Amino acid sequence: MIKSKRIRFGHWAKTDIDLAHELWGEPDVTKYISKTGLFSDEQIAERLKFEIASEKESGVQYWPFFEKTSGKFVGVAGLHPHGVGIYEIGFHLKPEFWGKGYAIEAAEKVIDYAFNELGAKELFAGHNPNNIASKKLLEKLGFEYTGDEFYEPTGLYHPSYKKTISG
Ligand SMILES: CC(C)(COP(=O)(O)OP(=O)(O)OC[C@H]1O[C@@H](n2cnc3c(N)ncnc32)[C@H](O)[C@@H]1OP(=O)(O)O)[C@@H](O)C(=O)NCCC(=O)NCCS
Repeated sequence: MIKSKRIRFGHWAKTDIDLAHELWGEPDVTKYISKTGLFSDEQIAERLKFEIASEKESGVQYWPFFEKTSGKFVGVAGLHPHGVGIYEIGFHLKPEFWGKGYAIEAAEKVIDYAFNELGAKELFAGHNPNNIASKKLLEKLGFEYTGDEFYEPTGLYHPSYKKTISG
């Protein structure tokens, strides 16, 4: 699978429930991605199932990735289908790894994979209006703001973005 300088990607498996809890059981990670700001145990189990099903059905998921030197689980970065030839990109990192350029490093690999391996024509992304880190990250990755769209999981209008292979 995808590898870069400091990280290697894996795939979610049914047995990864503890890993899923390490990430989505952390309130700082879910603060901007659910209505309550938290994921219940049931939502974490559902999310794991969803990611596994996504890869089975569409060949993509928010892949777990790991620090090469320590083997530690860093978080997820990846894709979900969002229309014909269009994928949504997303990233959730454990707080101990924030601010070290891991999101950028993972996102660059995922973007390259989407355009060059999957033949995507466009990538979509959105973020909670209060999530400044995510806004900065998307701008740095060259995403272009397209408007605000309602996002059911938070019940808010999320600024939305697109990126094309040339953009
Ligand atoms: C958003 C998130 C993925 C950023 O991950 P990260 O590894 O810390 O990001 P990076 O270190 O690669 O930083 C990339 C750029 O993002 C911006 N950024 C990251 N954290 C920031 C913060 N707290 N405030 C402002 N800008 C920030 C910076 O512009 C940075 O570029 P710079 O280093 O040149 O200034 C991470 O905070 C996270 O996982 N949050 C919880 C889950 C989440 O909300 N995901 C987004 C859902 S849409």
